[in-house]
Amino acid sequence: MTGMRRHLRWTVLDTPGDVAQRACELISAAAARAIADRGAFSIVLAGGSTPRRCYEMLRDTAQDWPRWQVFFGDERCLPADHPDRNSMMARDALLDRVAIPKAHVHAIPAEQGAAGAARTYARTLETVRPFDMVILGLGEDGHTASLFPGHAHAAEEAVHAVFDAPKPPPERVTLAVSTLADCRNLLFIVTGASKYVAVRAWQRGEPALPIVAIKPQCRAEVLLDSSAAGGAMESG
Ligand code: 6PG
Repeated sequence: MTGMRRHLRWTVLDTPGDVAQRACELISAAAARAIADRGAFSIVLAGGSTPRRCYEMLRDTAQDWPRWQVFFGDERCLPADHPDRNSMMARDALLDRVAIPKAHVHAIPAEQGAAGAARTYARTLETVRPFDMVILGLGEDGHTASLFPGHAHAAEEAVHAVFDAPKPPPERVTLAVSTLADCRNLLFIVTGASKYVAVRAWQRGEPALPIVAIKPQCRAEVLLDSSAAGGAMESG
């Protein structure tokens, strides 16, 4: 079931596996369009656990991998090879298992500490935008990437340092709302009953949620499983 709401297309699918499969299809289509149009595909990966199944499905698809350029929406300030790093999840599920050149994987150097890593990554992104695709998740409290409700950031920054994240670890690096919105395709992947309250707040347009402020020029797709959607989707 699909409902349109402002700049977002909300689609509810039965299971997390269905969501991962649909996300994989959307990413593959975006990659084909980008490579046909511009000879490359830039993608910003989401962290957390939800995207893993989609990444695992992607590795079994036929992609022009050498033309992919991979970035991250946020990173936890942990050692570069720490198992809790978002980059490590993406490497384990996908990046180390396909022919994307190592030089095309642009990890956030969060092991350097949030302030320095944010400055460094902002410079990395200067020549990349707009991204062809940005993938984001949603936390139970309504956060996305490492943008947390009630946490203010300097509007002029493209990448923020975070020192007080409610979700451990407290120190993180995150792309800013404006940076995440600077894309040709935006895809939100949200599954599980624990996200229902945050989804409803998002649908109400709660101004405290940073995710509400992410308004790209492009079509933005929200894929929910039935648990996160709390059953039937409101129409309209
Ligand atoms: C992180 C992620 C974060 C994540 C949400 C959802 O570093 O934790 O960037 O924004 O996407 O918290 O996490 P789950 O997918 O694990 O529910």
